[in-house]
Amino acid sequence: MPYVVALSGGIASGKSTIANLFAKLGVPVIDADIIARQIVQSGTDAFNLIVKHFSQEILLPNGELDRSQLREIIFNNDHERLWLNSLLHPIIQQETERQIAMQQTCYVLWVVPLLIENNLHYLADRVLMIDSPMELQLKRLIQRDGIDEHLAKKMIRSQVSSSKRLSYADDIINNNGDLVSLTSQVNKLHYQYINNTKHKNGLV
Ligand SMILES: Nc1ncnc2c1ncn2[C@@H]1O[C@H](COP(=O)(O)OP(=O)(O)OP(=O)(O)O)[C@@H](O)[C@H]1O
Ligand SMILES: [Mg+2]
Repeated sequence: MPYVVALSGGIASGKSTIANLFAKLGVPVIDADIIARQIVQSGTDAFNLIVKHFSQEILLPNGELDRSQLREIIFNNDHERLWLNSLLHPIIQQETERQIAMQQTCYVLWVVPLLIENNLHYLADRVLMIDSPMELQLKRLIQRDGIDEHLAKKMIRSQVSSSKRLSYADDIINNNGDLVSLTSQVNKLHYQYINNTKHKNGLV
């Protein structure tokens, strides 16, 4: 099983940008958001159980799950939220482990936006957090998504605070500069992780 580095950070903190830099170095990237969508695709066990529980009303006209309706339901109903979480959590974990185990490299990057919110940090060997100054995070979010400042602030506030997030970090990337600065931090961490895995596997 490869060594697992979990990459997390607030919304628009630079997770995708940084994951791409690791991918360029040949590191497999496992994306928690993609897995969360894959396991409820139409025809999967989770999909069938969700339709049975909420009825066909939970489907879009094209037969796919209406994820925004589902989000709305669980946002307003703790009982349904717990039901859905207890169904999905073990399936997500199993699929994540399956995708990680398939990789032939010594370590993988697991990108998990809600690592702390969903209490998933214990599944990683190492936690890499992005530290992005609030002002820059806000500016990048507004620019990328074309939204107003009020909504952007609300989105940032709905997540755990950056100090709480950073308290879980083994390593921190500062995304307060340009891409050159990010690339050099990623390169350093890459060699550190290769070394870490050698220690883990008793090779050094
Ligand atoms: N160092 C940087 N220099 C310039 N632009 C950057 C930098 N880091 C990130 N950005 C830009 O900021 C925006 C947010 O970055 P990115 O999409 O990587 O964040 P994210 O954490 O993946 O966001 P989300 O939480 O929505 O998935 C993007 O438009 C990206 O190009
Ligand atoms: Mg992203």
